[in-house]
Amino acid sequence: MNQDQLKQLVGEGARDEVLKLPAGQILGVGTGSTANCFIDALAPHKDHFAGAVSSSNATTERLLKHGFTVLDPNDVKDLPAYVDGADEIDSAGNMIKGGGGALTREKIIASMAQQFICICDASKQVPVLGTFALPVEIIPLSRGVVTRELEKLGGTVSLRLSKETRSDLGQTPSQAFVTDNGGWILDVAGLRISDPLALEAQINQIAGVITVGLFAKEKADILLVSNASGVSRLTF
Ligand code: 5RP
Repeated sequence: MNQDQLKQLVGEGARDEVLKLPAGQILGVGTGSTANCFIDALAPHKDHFAGAVSSSNATTERLLKHGFTVLDPNDVKDLPAYVDGADEIDSAGNMIKGGGGALTREKIIASMAQQFICICDASKQVPVLGTFALPVEIIPLSRGVVTRELEKLGGTVSLRLSKETRSDLGQTPSQAFVTDNGGWILDVAGLRISDPLALEAQINQIAGVITVGLFAKEKADILLVSNASGVSRLTF
């Protein structure tokens, strides 16, 4: 089975998991290729939910295309579950997220939800977080100072660049990637994150940081993970 098939498999597993929730509730929906597989698998059952709250413009677009009702998070009080992928997850359910740049909205929706259901293939499971460069969303004018603070942690910091260059907008290939919130992303490589909760709090304290892509306070409650023999369900 290739990675796309594994993502599809776990997307279907997540569909079965959320369909166990009572009908008529609201669902939090994440961002990325695995979350997309989940959205596509859930689409025929969209009427089971009163609506969805979305963690990015891309996810909102996909949900609307399938006919889901997408709600403003400000109008939602009860969110039984949030389903999203991860770039890395450790054996306690702590995660690195933000490979797709949606970390801030992902963390907001995760904080609203009673349960974070993480969905991924087994390649995302790691003993210690940090092989995947840690994304940190920042206010653009703080790039210099935040870079220097992050370097003190021992990592190598790089500004994420946009993959899509719009020459019609006069953009050059070195243009910064801009998040849905107008922020920039610094990717911090070379960290070995032995205490995710402490590092999350420490990085969040740096002036200019919008969100760090460490999900320890908002860690996973349930992990659905796919490999060649099927989908396993772990709880933390
Ligand atoms: C986006 C994310 C994604 O959940 C993460 O990058 C995993 O993506 P994919 O399912 O495409 O591997 O955090 O900001």
